[in-house]
Amino acid sequence: MSYKLLFVCLGNICRSPSAENIMNYLAAQRGCDRAIACDSAGTSSYHIGASPDRRMRAAAKERGIELHGKARQFMREDFAQFDLILAMDRENYRDILRLDPEGKYTDKVRMMCDFATNHPDRDVPDPYYGGTDGFNYVIDLLLDACDGLLEEIMKDGE
Ligand code: 4NP
Repeated sequence: MSYKLLFVCLGNICRSPSAENIMNYLAAQRGCDRAIACDSAGTSSYHIGASPDRRMRAAAKERGIELHGKARQFMREDFAQFDLILAMDRENYRDILRLDPEGKYTDKVRMMCDFATNHPDRDVPDPYYGGTDGFNYVIDLLLDACDGLLEEIMKDGE
């Protein structure tokens, strides 16, 4: 059985689909893609059904990574379905845990940036209202954090 990961941001069109596809890309590169299964979701309903943002796709493409997927909203049922839920920022983290008032799944929810080793950020910054640099930064930060996360998962699975 593969380890099930869910990446979560606000709209599910910029940061979390990038994290999902970068994780798949790194796992395939390392020959461990069968060990994990990735999905992503947004805490909001703003963009349900939408493809990843065009500007985000362009930034990922520059690193040779294609972004696939259609936006969906995070739901309570996801807590039981996934082994680990990665929040892109502190607001996402709070919004996710608000759907688990009894705290049954708190241990499954982690901050994405906790796995980055070369960036000091606590949050993956929301690039939506900014320029190209912001989108490029999200890709760099997520490559770092996904690398650390994959390392941790493979270490635990040994
Ligand atoms: P994401 O970016 O949470 O990384 O997908 C955003 C997408 C849309 C909006 C905000 C952030 N929005 O306000 O519509």
